Amino acid sequence: MSVDAGASMAMAARRRKKRNLNSWLRESWLTYRHRADRCEERFDFDWRAIPHTRATVVNLLLAGNPNGRYLEIGCAGNELFDAVMTTRKTGVDPVRGGTHRQTSDAFFAQSAGERFDVIFIDGLHLFEQVHRDVVNALAALAPGGWIAIHDMLPRDWLEEHVPQISTAAWTGDGWKVAFELLASPELEFRLLSVDHGVAVIRPKVAGARLADLGAALGSERFSYLHRHFERLPVVDYAAGRDWIGSHGALHSGEEGRRSLGMTK
Ligand SMILES: C[S@@+](CC[C@H](N)C(=O)[O-])C[C@H]1O[C@@H](n2cnc3c(N)ncnc32)[C@H](O)[C@@H]1O
Repeated sequence: MSVDAGASMAMAARRRKKRNLNSWLRESWLTYRHRADRCEERFDFDWRAIPHTRATVVNLLLAGNPNGRYLEIGCAGNELFDAVMTTRKTGVDPVRGGTHRQTSDAFFAQSAGERFDVIFIDGLHLFEQVHRDVVNALAALAPGGWIAIHDMLPRDWLEEHVPQISTAAWTGDGWKVAFELLASPELEFRLLSVDHGVAVIRPKVAGARLADLGAALGSERFSYLHRHFERLPVVDYAAGRDWIGSHGALHSGEEGRRSLGMTK
């Protein structure tokens, strides 16, 4: 290794250490400042031990329609976007990734009339925004289409807190939309316990509407989710796959079934 390369590696290590120290200080300060929201309860999901991910779920939703129109809200490094099987993809993100450099609100406002078969919502993780993304997605969904929402199962108050405290895993409070879905008779849904929680939604009728519980849930925090968790239709991947399959959405080819972890 040259002297220059050694010096720049040492500089990068110092920068990393400073960044880690800064984010530790920031998290400690915010944890103290928002201590009134602290909740000792937690869920013990071990996401890394579950082999299925959001990509498995999205590809499952596209399995019966492999060239379906896919829309992803919030693409970041395109980790999911690049793993989605169809070639007809639209990705919206104001910062990076996807195909459209804009917010979801701006995209939906200018794309009226465009229809998608599968819409994955993973943009700004704030309740009001996730609610708006679902309302707009319902209007943009093709008949027989599916909507999925990522990061619906925070494991503790730090992962959930708004404003954001955790710089590791942060789901925000989009989980409140799950209680709106419960209160929406025109929408069916399941909350799959994979990859930080993926809600999968299926409209029962054309023009299906999402209930608005903003006034009731706006100021609730993680402890509400923990107290009311049993009300939610949380299922593991196998049960979620069977539910999706019961709508006739699955691929019949042997290879497709194997790649999706299907045993039946
Ligand atoms: C968690 S990342 C998305 C990860 C990606 N879907 C994946 O699975 O690999 C969230 C992304 O949402 C984007 N974002 C933030 N606000 C947004 C908005 N209003 N509309 C659309 N995307 C937004 C951020 O720039 C960020 O890249």
